[in-house]
Amino acid sequence: MMKKEERRNLKVYQKVFGCQMNEYDSDEVKKSLCEKGYEITEEASESDIILFNTCSVRQHAEERVFGNLRKLSKLKKKRPEVIIGIMGCMVNAYKEELLKDFPHVDFISGTYDFGQVPEILDEVLKEREQKAFISLHYKGFRFSRYTGRFNKIKAFVPVMRGCDNFCSFCIVPYVRGREISRNPDEIIDEISFLAEHGVKEIMLLGQNVNSYGKGLHVNIDFPDLLSRVNDVNGIEVIRFMTSHPKDTSEKLFSVMKDNEKVEKHLHLPLQSGSDKILRAMNRNYSINDYSKKIDSLRKLIPSVSITTDIIVGFCGEGDSEYNQTKDVIKGIRFDDAFIFKYSPRKGTKAFTLKDDVSQRVKNERNNDLLKLQKSISYEKNKELIGREEKVLVEAVSRKNNTQMKGRTSSDKEVVFEGTKDMIGKIFLVKLTDIVHETFIGKLCNNENK
Ligand code: 5AD
Ligand code: SF4
Repeated sequence: MMKKEERRNLKVYQKVFGCQMNEYDSDEVKKSLCEKGYEITEEASESDIILFNTCSVRQHAEERVFGNLRKLSKLKKKRPEVIIGIMGCMVNAYKEELLKDFPHVDFISGTYDFGQVPEILDEVLKEREQKAFISLHYKGFRFSRYTGRFNKIKAFVPVMRGCDNFCSFCIVPYVRGREISRNPDEIIDEISFLAEHGVKEIMLLGQNVNSYGKGLHVNIDFPDLLSRVNDVNGIEVIRFMTSHPKDTSEKLFSVMKDNEKVEKHLHLPLQSGSDKILRAMNRNYSINDYSKKIDSLRKLIPSVSITTDIIVGFCGEGDSEYNQTKDVIKGIRFDDAFIFKYSPRKGTKAFTLKDDVSQRVKNERNNDLLKLQKSISYEKNKELIGREEKVLVEAVSRKNNTQMKGRTSSDKEVVFEGTKDMIGKIFLVKLTDIVHETFIGKLCNNENK
Protein backbone atom coordinates (compact mmCIF):
# COMPACT_ATOMS: atom_id res chain seq x y z
CA MET A 1 0.00 0.00 0.00
CA MET A 2 1.35 3.43 -0.93
CA LYS A 3 1.45 6.16 1.70
CA LYS A 4 -0.74 9.23 1.26
CA GLU A 5 2.42 11.44 1.06
CA GLU A 6 3.72 9.43 -1.89
CA ARG A 7 0.52 10.02 -3.79
CA ARG A 8 0.36 13.71 -3.01
CA ASN A 9 1.46 15.70 -6.07
CA LEU A 10 0.39 12.88 -8.37
CA LYS A 11 -2.06 14.57 -10.68
CA VAL A 12 -5.01 12.74 -12.20
CA TYR A 13 -6.77 13.76 -15.40
CA GLN A 14 -10.11 12.13 -16.20
CA LYS A 15 -12.10 12.12 -19.43
CA VAL A 16 -15.66 10.83 -19.48
CA PHE A 17 -17.39 9.48 -22.56
CA GLY A 18 -21.03 8.42 -22.68
CA CYS A 19 -23.95 8.59 -20.31
CA GLN A 20 -24.80 10.11 -16.91
CA MET A 21 -23.97 6.82 -15.18
CA ASN A 22 -20.41 7.18 -16.48
CA GLU A 23 -20.28 10.73 -15.19
CA TYR A 24 -21.41 9.54 -11.78
CA ASP A 25 -18.86 6.72 -11.72
CA SER A 26 -16.01 9.00 -12.78
CA ASP A 27 -17.03 11.49 -10.14
CA GLU A 28 -16.92 8.76 -7.50
CA VAL A 29 -13.48 7.70 -8.77
CA LYS A 30 -12.38 11.33 -8.49
CA LYS A 31 -13.64 11.61 -4.91
CA SER A 32 -12.03 8.34 -3.86
CA LEU A 33 -8.71 9.43 -5.37
CA CYS A 34 -8.85 12.84 -3.67
CA GLU A 35 -9.47 11.03 -0.37
CA LYS A 36 -6.27 9.07 -0.90
CA GLY A 37 -4.22 12.19 -1.54
CA TYR A 38 -4.21 12.46 -5.33
CA GLU A 39 -4.69 15.82 -7.00
CA ILE A 40 -7.10 16.43 -9.85
CA THR A 41 -6.13 18.36 -12.97
CA GLU A 42 -8.14 19.50 -15.96
CA GLU A 43 -5.03 19.36 -18.18
CA ALA A 44 -4.00 16.01 -19.64
CA SER A 45 -0.55 17.42 -20.54
CA GLU A 46 0.35 18.14 -16.93
CA SER A 47 -1.04 14.93 -15.44
CA ASP A 48 0.70 11.84 -14.06
CA ILE A 49 -2.32 9.61 -14.45
CA ILE A 50 -4.88 9.68 -17.28
CA LEU A 51 -8.17 7.85 -16.85
CA PHE A 52 -10.75 7.40 -19.61
CA ASN A 53 -14.26 6.23 -18.73
CA THR A 54 -15.57 4.72 -21.92
CA CYS A 55 -18.85 4.06 -23.78
CA SER A 56 -19.81 1.21 -26.12
CA VAL A 57 -23.41 2.11 -26.91
CA ARG A 58 -22.73 3.01 -30.55
CA GLN A 59 -19.75 2.64 -32.85
CA HIS A 60 -19.37 6.40 -33.01
CA ALA A 61 -18.86 6.56 -29.24
CA GLU A 62 -16.15 3.90 -29.42
CA GLU A 63 -14.43 5.64 -32.31
CA ARG A 64 -14.13 8.80 -30.24
CA VAL A 65 -12.42 6.81 -27.49
CA PHE A 66 -10.10 5.05 -29.96
CA GLY A 67 -9.17 8.41 -31.53
CA ASN A 68 -8.39 9.94 -28.15
CA LEU A 69 -6.38 6.87 -27.12
CA ARG A 70 -4.28 7.00 -30.29
CA LYS A 71 -3.44 10.63 -29.54
CA LEU A 72 -2.10 9.61 -26.12
CA SER A 73 0.67 7.46 -27.61
CA LYS A 74 2.70 10.61 -28.44
CA LEU A 75 2.37 11.84 -24.88
CA LYS A 76 3.43 8.44 -23.54
CA LYS A 77 6.55 8.48 -25.76
CA LYS A 78 7.54 11.86 -24.41
CA ARG A 79 6.68 11.00 -20.79
CA PRO A 80 6.76 7.21 -20.35
CA GLU A 81 6.14 7.53 -16.61
CA VAL A 82 2.54 8.69 -17.22
CA ILE A 83 -0.03 6.02 -16.28
CA ILE A 84 -2.90 5.55 -18.73
CA GLY A 85 -5.99 3.63 -17.61
CA ILE A 86 -9.15 2.72 -19.52
CA MET A 87 -12.26 2.13 -17.43
CA GLY A 88 -15.85 1.13 -18.03
CA CYS A 89 -18.00 -0.34 -20.78
CA MET A 90 -15.39 -0.71 -23.55
CA VAL A 91 -13.21 -2.71 -21.17
CA ASN A 92 -15.99 -5.25 -20.70
CA ALA A 93 -16.64 -5.26 -24.45
CA TYR A 94 -13.00 -5.68 -25.63
CA LYS A 95 -11.18 -6.96 -22.53
CA GLU A 96 -7.41 -7.69 -22.98
CA GLU A 97 -7.64 -6.85 -26.71
CA LEU A 98 -7.39 -3.20 -25.64
CA LEU A 99 -4.01 -3.80 -24.00
CA LYS A 100 -2.72 -5.48 -27.16
CA ASP A 101 -4.05 -2.83 -29.53
CA PHE A 102 -2.90 0.05 -27.36
CA PRO A 103 0.45 -0.94 -25.86
CA HIS A 104 0.80 2.50 -24.26
CA VAL A 105 -2.19 1.74 -22.00
CA ASP A 106 -1.10 0.64 -18.49
CA PHE A 107 -4.30 -0.82 -17.14
CA ILE A 108 -7.91 -1.55 -17.94
CA SER A 109 -10.70 -1.85 -15.36
CA GLY A 110 -14.30 -2.90 -15.94
CA THR A 111 -17.75 -1.71 -14.98
CA TYR A 112 -17.70 -3.59 -11.65
CA ASP A 113 -14.30 -2.16 -10.66
CA PHE A 114 -14.85 1.59 -10.27
CA GLY A 115 -14.84 1.25 -6.48
CA GLN A 116 -11.37 -0.31 -6.55
CA VAL A 117 -9.53 2.26 -8.69
CA PRO A 118 -7.35 3.61 -5.83
CA GLU A 119 -6.11 0.08 -5.01
CA ILE A 120 -5.67 -0.66 -8.73
CA LEU A 121 -3.53 2.45 -9.11
CA ASP A 122 -1.39 1.46 -6.13
CA GLU A 123 -0.68 -1.85 -7.81
CA VAL A 124 -0.04 -0.36 -11.24
CA LEU A 125 2.27 2.35 -9.89
CA LYS A 126 4.26 -0.28 -8.01
CA GLU A 127 4.55 -2.95 -10.65
CA ARG A 128 4.61 -0.88 -13.82
CA GLU A 129 3.37 -3.55 -16.20
CA GLN A 130 0.16 -3.83 -18.23
CA LYS A 131 -2.67 -5.11 -16.08
CA ALA A 132 -6.34 -6.02 -16.49
CA PHE A 133 -8.92 -5.76 -13.68
CA ILE A 134 -12.26 -7.07 -14.88
CA SER A 135 -14.49 -8.45 -12.13
CA LEU A 136 -17.25 -10.78 -13.20
CA HIS A 137 -19.41 -10.20 -10.14
CA TYR A 138 -20.81 -7.05 -8.64
CA LYS A 139 -19.06 -6.37 -5.35
CA GLY A 140 -21.40 -3.76 -3.99
CA PHE A 141 -20.47 -0.16 -3.90
CA ARG A 142 -20.14 2.54 -1.25
CA PHE A 143 -20.42 6.13 -2.31
CA SER A 144 -17.62 8.37 -1.12
CA ARG A 145 -18.33 10.92 1.61
CA TYR A 146 -15.46 13.09 0.45
CA THR A 147 -16.58 16.73 0.55
CA GLY A 148 -13.58 18.71 -0.74
CA ARG A 149 -14.22 20.03 -4.27
CA PHE A 150 -17.91 19.93 -3.44
CA ASN A 151 -19.91 22.73 -4.91
CA LYS A 152 -22.92 21.32 -6.59
CA ILE A 153 -26.57 22.21 -6.94
CA LYS A 154 -27.38 19.09 -8.96
CA ALA A 155 -26.20 15.52 -8.49
CA PHE A 156 -26.73 12.14 -10.07
CA VAL A 157 -27.65 9.19 -7.85
CA PRO A 158 -27.87 5.67 -9.30
CA VAL A 159 -30.74 3.59 -7.99
CA MET A 160 -29.75 0.49 -9.89
CA ARG A 161 -27.06 -0.91 -12.13
CA GLY A 162 -27.17 -3.03 -15.26
CA CYS A 163 -30.15 -4.11 -17.32
CA ASP A 164 -32.14 -7.32 -17.82
CA ASN A 165 -34.13 -6.30 -20.87
CA PHE A 166 -31.88 -7.41 -23.69
CA CYS A 167 -33.32 -5.11 -26.32
CA SER A 168 -31.83 -6.75 -29.37
CA PHE A 169 -29.74 -3.73 -30.44
CA CYS A 170 -28.29 -2.92 -27.04
CA ILE A 171 -24.86 -3.74 -25.63
CA VAL A 172 -25.66 -2.51 -22.10
CA PRO A 173 -26.74 -5.86 -20.55
CA TYR A 174 -23.48 -7.40 -21.80
CA VAL A 175 -21.10 -4.68 -20.62
CA ARG A 176 -22.88 -3.58 -17.45
CA GLY A 177 -24.33 -6.92 -16.45
CA ARG A 178 -27.62 -7.94 -14.89
CA GLU A 179 -29.92 -5.56 -13.11
CA ILE A 180 -29.12 -4.90 -9.44
CA SER A 181 -31.20 -2.47 -7.40
CA ARG A 182 -29.52 -0.53 -4.61
CA ASN A 183 -30.88 -0.78 -1.13
CA PRO A 184 -33.33 2.12 -0.58
CA ASP A 185 -31.76 3.11 2.76
CA GLU A 186 -28.40 3.46 1.08
CA ILE A 187 -29.94 5.64 -1.65
CA ILE A 188 -31.70 7.86 0.91
CA ASP A 189 -28.47 8.05 2.93
CA GLU A 190 -26.57 9.27 -0.15
CA ILE A 191 -29.27 11.80 -1.06
CA SER A 192 -29.48 13.11 2.53
CA PHE A 193 -25.71 13.47 2.56
CA LEU A 194 -25.84 15.42 -0.71
CA ALA A 195 -28.67 17.61 0.60
CA GLU A 196 -26.64 18.42 3.72
CA HIS A 197 -23.88 19.61 1.40
CA GLY A 198 -25.99 21.97 -0.63
CA VAL A 199 -27.37 19.77 -3.40
CA LYS A 200 -30.92 20.79 -4.37
CA GLU A 201 -31.66 18.63 -7.39
CA ILE A 202 -31.26 14.89 -7.71
CA MET A 203 -31.32 12.91 -10.93
CA LEU A 204 -32.07 9.28 -10.11
CA LEU A 205 -30.28 7.06 -12.60
CA GLY A 206 -30.82 3.57 -13.94
CA GLN A 207 -31.01 1.89 -17.33
CA ASN A 208 -34.60 1.04 -16.49
CA VAL A 209 -35.60 2.83 -13.28
CA ASN A 210 -39.14 1.46 -13.42
CA SER A 211 -38.06 -2.06 -12.63
CA TYR A 212 -36.38 -0.78 -9.45
CA GLY A 213 -36.87 -3.08 -6.48
CA LYS A 214 -36.65 -6.38 -8.31
CA GLY A 215 -34.54 -8.80 -6.27
CA LEU A 216 -34.40 -6.63 -3.13
CA HIS A 217 -35.38 -8.11 0.23
CA VAL A 218 -37.51 -5.07 0.98
CA ASN A 219 -40.84 -4.61 -0.74
CA ILE A 220 -40.42 -1.38 -2.68
CA ASP A 221 -40.91 -0.20 -6.25
CA PHE A 222 -39.77 2.91 -8.08
CA PRO A 223 -42.81 5.08 -7.29
CA ASP A 224 -42.37 4.20 -3.58
CA LEU A 225 -38.73 5.21 -3.82
CA LEU A 226 -39.68 8.53 -5.45
CA SER A 227 -42.03 9.26 -2.54
CA ARG A 228 -39.25 8.52 -0.08
CA VAL A 229 -36.83 10.82 -1.92
CA ASN A 230 -39.54 13.47 -1.95
CA ASP A 231 -39.38 13.46 1.87
CA VAL A 232 -35.66 14.29 2.05
CA ASN A 233 -35.24 17.76 3.53
CA GLY A 234 -33.28 20.19 1.40
CA ILE A 235 -33.92 18.42 -1.91
CA GLU A 236 -36.11 20.62 -4.09
CA VAL A 237 -36.24 18.86 -7.45
CA ILE A 238 -36.22 15.15 -8.31
CA ARG A 239 -35.59 13.96 -11.84
CA PHE A 240 -35.16 10.42 -13.09
CA MET A 241 -34.15 8.46 -16.14
CA THR A 242 -34.52 6.16 -18.02
CA SER A 243 -37.99 4.63 -18.04
CA HIS A 244 -38.96 1.59 -20.07
CA PRO A 245 -42.49 1.78 -21.53
CA LYS A 246 -43.30 -1.80 -20.52
CA ASP A 247 -42.62 -1.08 -16.81
CA THR A 248 -44.01 2.44 -16.59
CA SER A 249 -47.12 2.32 -14.43
CA GLU A 250 -50.17 4.37 -13.47
CA LYS A 251 -48.72 4.36 -9.97
CA LEU A 252 -45.66 6.21 -11.28
CA PHE A 253 -47.90 8.82 -12.92
CA SER A 254 -49.86 9.39 -9.69
CA VAL A 255 -46.66 9.77 -7.69
CA MET A 256 -45.38 12.26 -10.27
CA LYS A 257 -48.59 14.21 -9.90
CA ASP A 258 -48.84 14.08 -6.10
CA ASN A 259 -45.24 14.80 -5.15
CA GLU A 260 -44.41 18.40 -5.76
CA LYS A 261 -40.67 17.94 -6.02
CA VAL A 262 -40.90 15.26 -8.69
CA GLU A 263 -40.39 16.67 -12.18
CA LYS A 264 -43.32 16.83 -14.54
CA HIS A 265 -41.27 15.24 -17.28
CA LEU A 266 -40.93 11.70 -18.52
CA HIS A 267 -38.21 10.42 -20.81
CA LEU A 268 -39.79 7.38 -22.40
CA PRO A 269 -37.78 5.83 -25.24
CA LEU A 270 -40.08 4.70 -28.04
CA GLN A 271 -37.30 3.48 -30.40
CA SER A 272 -39.64 2.85 -33.35
CA GLY A 273 -43.20 3.53 -34.47
CA SER A 274 -43.58 0.12 -36.11
CA ASP A 275 -44.86 -2.89 -34.18
CA LYS A 276 -42.85 -5.16 -36.47
CA ILE A 277 -39.62 -3.34 -35.66
CA LEU A 278 -40.48 -3.14 -31.94
CA ARG A 279 -40.84 -6.93 -31.94
CA ALA A 280 -37.49 -7.34 -33.71
CA MET A 281 -36.01 -5.00 -31.10
CA ASN A 282 -37.45 -7.16 -28.30
CA ARG A 283 -39.06 -4.15 -26.67
CA ASN A 284 -42.14 -5.95 -25.32
CA TYR A 285 -44.76 -3.30 -26.01
CA SER A 286 -46.82 -2.25 -29.01
CA ILE A 287 -47.49 1.24 -30.32
CA ASN A 288 -50.98 0.90 -28.90
CA ASP A 289 -49.63 0.09 -25.39
CA TYR A 290 -47.22 3.01 -25.62
CA SER A 291 -49.85 5.50 -26.81
CA LYS A 292 -52.27 4.46 -24.07
CA LYS A 293 -49.65 5.19 -21.41
CA ILE A 294 -48.96 8.60 -22.91
CA ASP A 295 -52.69 9.37 -22.99
CA SER A 296 -53.25 8.44 -19.39
CA LEU A 297 -50.18 10.41 -18.22
CA ARG A 298 -51.33 13.48 -20.15
CA LYS A 299 -54.81 13.13 -18.75
CA LEU A 300 -53.45 13.10 -15.21
CA ILE A 301 -50.79 15.82 -15.71
CA PRO A 302 -51.76 17.94 -18.73
CA SER A 303 -48.62 20.09 -18.51
CA VAL A 304 -46.26 17.09 -18.49
CA SER A 305 -43.41 17.09 -20.98
CA ILE A 306 -42.49 13.86 -22.71
CA THR A 307 -39.24 13.13 -24.51
CA THR A 308 -38.06 10.03 -26.30
CA ASP A 309 -35.29 8.12 -28.08
CA ILE A 310 -35.71 6.85 -31.63
CA ILE A 311 -33.44 4.56 -33.61
CA VAL A 312 -33.61 4.91 -37.40
CA GLY A 313 -32.37 2.31 -39.84
CA PHE A 314 -32.81 -0.76 -37.64
CA CYS A 315 -32.63 -4.10 -39.50
CA GLY A 316 -35.72 -4.56 -41.67
CA GLU A 317 -36.87 -0.92 -41.45
CA GLY A 318 -38.33 -0.26 -44.91
CA ASP A 319 -40.04 2.93 -46.02
CA SER A 320 -43.37 1.78 -44.63
CA GLU A 321 -41.96 1.06 -41.12
CA TYR A 322 -40.09 4.34 -41.19
CA ASN A 323 -43.24 6.21 -42.18
CA GLN A 324 -45.06 4.62 -39.26
CA THR A 325 -42.42 6.09 -36.96
CA LYS A 326 -42.96 9.50 -38.53
CA ASP A 327 -46.71 9.17 -38.06
CA VAL A 328 -46.36 8.22 -34.40
CA ILE A 329 -44.02 11.19 -33.81
CA LYS A 330 -46.55 13.49 -35.47
CA GLY A 331 -49.39 11.93 -33.46
CA ILE A 332 -47.77 11.99 -30.02
CA ARG A 333 -45.93 15.29 -30.46
CA PHE A 334 -43.02 14.75 -28.09
CA ASP A 335 -41.43 17.74 -26.46
CA ASP A 336 -38.09 16.50 -27.75
CA ALA A 337 -36.54 13.39 -29.23
CA PHE A 338 -33.03 12.01 -29.44
CA ILE A 339 -32.58 10.35 -32.80
CA PHE A 340 -29.91 7.68 -33.31
CA LYS A 341 -28.77 5.80 -36.38
CA TYR A 342 -28.74 2.07 -35.75
CA SER A 343 -25.22 0.88 -35.01
CA PRO A 344 -24.66 -2.90 -34.93
CA ARG A 345 -22.99 -4.03 -31.70
CA LYS A 346 -21.07 -7.29 -31.64
CA GLY A 347 -22.52 -9.81 -29.20
CA THR A 348 -26.10 -8.49 -29.35
CA LYS A 349 -28.99 -10.42 -30.88
CA ALA A 350 -29.44 -7.86 -33.66
CA PHE A 351 -25.82 -8.34 -34.68
CA THR A 352 -26.92 -11.65 -36.21
CA LEU A 353 -29.55 -9.85 -38.34
CA LYS A 354 -28.71 -8.18 -41.63
CA ASP A 355 -27.86 -4.50 -41.20
CA ASP A 356 -29.84 -3.86 -44.37
CA VAL A 357 -30.49 -0.11 -44.27
CA SER A 358 -27.71 1.75 -46.06
CA GLN A 359 -25.74 4.51 -44.36
CA ARG A 360 -27.19 6.96 -46.87
CA VAL A 361 -30.77 6.04 -45.93
CA LYS A 362 -29.93 6.11 -42.21
CA ASN A 363 -28.56 9.62 -42.67
CA GLU A 364 -31.60 10.73 -44.64
CA ARG A 365 -34.05 9.35 -42.07
CA ASN A 366 -32.02 10.84 -39.24
CA ASN A 367 -32.07 14.31 -40.82
CA ASP A 368 -35.70 14.01 -41.78
CA LEU A 369 -36.77 13.13 -38.22
CA LEU A 370 -34.56 15.81 -36.70
CA LYS A 371 -36.30 18.38 -38.91
CA LEU A 372 -39.75 17.05 -38.05
CA GLN A 373 -39.03 16.98 -34.31
CA LYS A 374 -37.51 20.45 -34.38
CA SER A 375 -40.69 21.92 -35.79
CA ILE A 376 -42.85 20.03 -33.27
CA SER A 377 -40.61 21.12 -30.35
CA TYR A 378 -40.78 24.68 -31.56
CA GLU A 379 -44.55 24.65 -31.83
CA LYS A 380 -44.95 23.03 -28.41
CA ASN A 381 -42.52 25.43 -26.77
CA LYS A 382 -44.33 28.42 -28.28
CA GLU A 383 -47.50 27.25 -26.55
CA LEU A 384 -45.71 27.66 -23.21
CA ILE A 385 -44.95 31.35 -23.65
CA GLY A 386 -46.84 33.40 -21.08
CA ARG A 387 -46.79 30.60 -18.50
CA GLU A 388 -45.38 31.05 -15.01
CA GLU A 389 -43.03 28.24 -14.00
CA LYS A 390 -41.02 27.36 -10.93
CA VAL A 391 -37.33 27.37 -11.80
CA LEU A 392 -34.41 26.12 -9.73
CA VAL A 393 -31.61 28.57 -10.45
CA GLU A 394 -28.49 26.59 -11.37
CA ALA A 395 -25.82 29.01 -12.49
CA VAL A 396 -24.92 32.24 -14.20
CA SER A 397 -25.77 32.04 -17.90
CA ARG A 398 -22.72 31.35 -20.06
CA LYS A 399 -23.58 34.07 -22.56
CA ASN A 400 -24.50 36.92 -20.28
CA ASN A 401 -23.39 37.31 -16.68
CA THR A 402 -26.36 39.40 -15.62
CA GLN A 403 -28.56 36.46 -16.52
CA MET A 404 -29.18 33.32 -14.48
CA LYS A 405 -30.13 29.95 -15.90
CA GLY A 406 -32.21 27.07 -14.64
CA ARG A 407 -34.80 24.50 -15.64
CA THR A 408 -38.53 24.26 -15.20
CA SER A 409 -40.13 21.22 -13.61
CA SER A 410 -40.86 20.03 -17.15
CA ASP A 411 -37.11 20.21 -17.88
CA LYS A 412 -37.06 23.27 -20.13
CA GLU A 413 -34.06 25.57 -19.96
CA VAL A 414 -34.77 29.19 -19.02
CA VAL A 415 -32.52 32.26 -18.76
CA PHE A 416 -33.62 35.46 -17.07
CA GLU A 417 -32.18 38.62 -15.50
CA GLY A 418 -31.06 37.91 -11.97
CA THR A 419 -28.23 37.86 -9.47
CA LYS A 420 -25.80 35.20 -8.28
CA ASP A 421 -27.35 34.97 -4.82
CA MET A 422 -30.36 33.33 -6.47
CA ILE A 423 -28.36 30.19 -7.31
CA GLY A 424 -29.72 27.12 -5.54
CA LYS A 425 -33.13 28.66 -4.89
CA ILE A 426 -36.47 28.27 -6.62
CA PHE A 427 -38.18 31.28 -8.21
CA LEU A 428 -41.32 31.79 -10.16
CA VAL A 429 -40.42 32.90 -13.68
CA LYS A 430 -42.70 33.97 -16.53
CA LEU A 431 -41.71 32.53 -19.91
CA THR A 432 -41.67 35.45 -22.34
CA ASP A 433 -39.87 34.20 -25.46
CA ILE A 434 -37.88 31.34 -26.90
CA VAL A 435 -34.56 31.49 -28.77
CA HIS A 436 -33.41 28.19 -30.26
CA GLU A 437 -34.32 25.74 -27.48
CA THR A 438 -33.83 28.16 -24.57
CA PHE A 439 -36.66 30.13 -23.02
CA ILE A 440 -36.21 33.76 -22.05
CA GLY A 441 -37.99 34.50 -18.80
CA LYS A 442 -38.85 37.32 -16.45
CA LEU A 443 -38.81 37.02 -12.70
CA CYS A 444 -42.32 37.18 -11.24
CA ASN A 445 -43.28 38.63 -7.93
CA ASN A 446 -41.99 35.72 -5.85
CA GLU A 447 -43.69 36.37 -2.55
CA ASN A 448 -46.04 33.45 -2.80
CA LYS A 449 -43.99 31.06 -4.89
N1 5AD B 1 -27.60 1.77 -32.16
C1 5AD B 1 -28.23 2.97 -32.11
N2 5AD B 1 -28.77 3.48 -31.01
C2 5AD B 1 -28.70 2.74 -29.89
N3 5AD B 1 -29.16 2.98 -28.65
C3 5AD B 1 -28.82 1.93 -27.86
N4 5AD B 1 -28.15 1.01 -28.58
C4 5AD B 1 -28.07 1.50 -29.85
C5 5AD B 1 -27.51 1.00 -31.05
N5 5AD B 1 -26.90 -0.18 -31.11
C6 5AD B 1 -29.94 4.16 -28.28
C7 5AD B 1 -31.35 3.81 -27.81
C8 5AD B 1 -31.28 4.07 -26.33
C9 5AD B 1 -30.28 5.21 -26.27
C10 5AD B 1 -29.65 5.44 -24.95
O1 5AD B 1 -29.30 4.81 -27.21
O2 5AD B 1 -32.26 4.69 -28.42
O3 5AD B 1 -32.54 4.43 -25.78
FE1 SF4 C 1 -30.37 -1.25 -23.51
FE2 SF4 C 1 -32.98 -1.88 -23.60
FE3 SF4 C 1 -31.62 -2.09 -21.28
FE4 SF4 C 1 -32.15 0.34 -22.30
S1 SF4 C 1 -33.68 -1.15 -21.58
S2 SF4 C 1 -30.15 -0.37 -21.46
S3 SF4 C 1 -31.99 -0.01 -24.50
S4 SF4 C 1 -31.24 -3.29 -23.12
